[in-house]
Amino acid sequence: MIRPATIHDVPRIQEIVNSHAELGKMLFKSFAQLYESLRDFAVYELPGGRVVGCTALAIIWADLAEVRSLAVDEKFQGRGVGKRLVEWCIDECRRIQIRRLMSLTYERAFFEKLGFIVVEKDSLPLKVWSDCVRCPKRDGCDEIAMVRELTDVPMIVMPTAPPTPRGVSIPVLEEVED
Ligand SMILES: CC(C)(COP(=O)(O)OP(=O)(O)OC[C@H]1O[C@@H](n2cnc3c(N)ncnc32)[C@H](O)[C@@H]1OP(=O)(O)O)[C@@H](O)C(=O)NCCC(=O)NCCS
Repeated sequence: MIRPATIHDVPRIQEIVNSHAELGKMLFKSFAQLYESLRDFAVYELPGGRVVGCTALAIIWADLAEVRSLAVDEKFQGRGVGKRLVEWCIDECRRIQIRRLMSLTYERAFFEKLGFIVVEKDSLPLKVWSDCVRCPKRDGCDEIAMVRELTDVPMIVMPTAPPTPRGVSIPVLEEVED
């Protein structure tokens, strides 16, 4: 089952996330960072109580939220856990009435199966890049940006997020050589 994370889940969330961070697949998370954003987190718990996956939904703007810290214990991958966690993010977006859900990822095929499409990074607002200062790959970011639009969530008229400025040097947006 998927349930909101509690403070007791933090060590296990860190263990799962950092096991992938060690392989360069995502950012390391400290306890301080996890405590701070714990209310964004959900975990996938097996019937015996073992947590085998986690995700967080971060609100970026009135019309945009981000899937963050999506990670499944390596031993439990390929069993639909990741898919269920992203579906939880989608359900949360619907509940909060946020129309677009984005991800910065290496897992293009996984997210495509869940209805996400690749978008230009500079089509996303500047605020998306706030975490990049902490990323060791900020000068050569090779993640792709993907968005799923929830067409059943009404569009709203709100002030738009400050755009990512064109022509201004933001390392994460610069071309990566193959
Ligand atoms: C990406 C990740 C979350 C996927 O979780 P998972 O539980 O293994 O994925 P699921 O079993 O739910 O897969 C759902 C579907 O996507 C497919 N899929 C999963 N990973 C895939 C991959 N790397 N390439 C292609 N397809 C993939 C599955 O085959 C499945 O397809 P189906 O519905 O047709 O059967 C997991 O591999 C992971 O934790 N990776 C390391 C951390 C990471 O990269 N996180 C993403 C940060 S944005």
